[in-house]
Amino acid sequence: MSQDFQEFLDDCRRLIGTDATPSQCVEAIVPLMHNLLPGAGARLSPGHRRSDEHHYTRNAILVGEQLSLYAIVWRPGQWTPVHDHGSWGVVGVLEGALHERAWLRTSPDDGRDAAITLVPGGVLVLGPGSVTSFVPNPDHIHVTGVPADAPPVLSLHLYGRNMNSFHMYDIGAGTRSRIALEHNES
Ligand SMILES: [Fe+2]
Repeated sequence: MSQDFQEFLDDCRRLIGTDATPSQCVEAIVPLMHNLLPGAGARLSPGHRRSDEHHYTRNAILVGEQLSLYAIVWRPGQWTPVHDHGSWGVVGVLEGALHERAWLRTSPDDGRDAAITLVPGGVLVLGPGSVTSFVPNPDHIHVTGVPADAPPVLSLHLYGRNMNSFHMYDIGAGTRSRIALEHNES
């Protein structure tokens, strides 16, 4: 791992060690991610740029219980399902334009996995150098990806937990289920 990435993660760990709230974490880390982005693509290893023709690819830079960082490669036409995170997160775009379509929960968040009503929210297009973030409770629910006619995207995704699963939502059925997430090791 390059020095810049190591220093970025050390700064994040120090912050978390102060028992910062999720909103305090993202407020402090968003500028750090913004500063990390210039030139960060050149400091990634070839393994961080792996992709798959069938789905977007999560390449781990760091996986820990308190913090995890992935380089995600999105080929044209690859999207996540509708999902939440159960964590705060900070996302920075290195190459291409990452699209985000928000979904807003209009039913009470009572912990149940059924009777969930979501309505479409806003759309963002995040170009190189852009940083976005989210906090849980209520969870941020969205779809991210790249349109089929757009160039591929490389983005960095930092989470306040081991992001090895998330809730996937079925909007028509009003349900959600927890699914395991795969990643490539560094
Ligand atoms: Fe997400």
